[in-house]
Amino acid sequence: MSPPPSSLVVLPLLLPLLLAAVSHATANAAGAGAPPPVPTPWPEQFHAVVFTNLTESGGRLQLIDLYYDWPRGRNLNLIRDQLSSDPLYDVEWTNGTSYFFDSGSCRTMRFPVGILPPDWLAAGAVYLGREHVDGFDCHLWTKVDFVWYYEEVATGRPVRWNFFNACDEL
Ligand SMILES: *[C@@H]1O[C@H](CO)[C@@H](O)[C@H](O)[C@H]1NC(C)=O
Ligand SMILES: *[C@@H]1O[C@H](CO)[C@@H](O)[C@H](O)[C@H]1NC(C)=O
Repeated sequence: MSPPPSSLVVLPLLLPLLLAAVSHATANAAGAGAPPPVPTPWPEQFHAVVFTNLTESGGRLQLIDLYYDWPRGRNLNLIRDQLSSDPLYDVEWTNGTSYFFDSGSCRTMRFPVGILPPDWLAAGAVYLGREHVDGFDCHLWTKVDFVWYYEEVATGRPVRWNFFNACDEL
């Protein structure tokens, strides 16, 4: 199963697919007699290299260095496009302010929810099963209206996340 498109407009089409995937995953889990796996909570501070595929919402593949610092209430996404040597810095603060800047521009955005807490995936995530992405064996969860999240089975590291409603400008 490939990640569905990232637009709310197609959500009605997508829901039956999602539900089918969910019952499939549930059936698998039931067959194996095991409950679905639980997402690994993030450490309070870490660096991860994460891939994002925004093909369906603006035509981008991005390689993101994610520097997460929950105790200090900040988060840096260092975003690289394959054919651009000028990375985009996305600094997010837990007070809701985000700065997006590269070598030539800067803009400020407000996201009142602040940065994601370490256990952001614990509530409301639906397990969709295992998938191989970029050579990593991953568990895949989705939070409807928000994200598909791929975590490496062996290490619990984030490998990829694709967003439903990604901002086209990023
Ligand atoms: C990115 O997503 C598109 C649309 O779902 C898919 O066709 C393509 O194979 C994906 N590319 C990668 C590298 O994951
Ligand atoms: C949030 O914190 C950052 C970093 O200290 C600061 O630049 C920004 O002005 C703050 N935003 C608000 C709304 O206080």
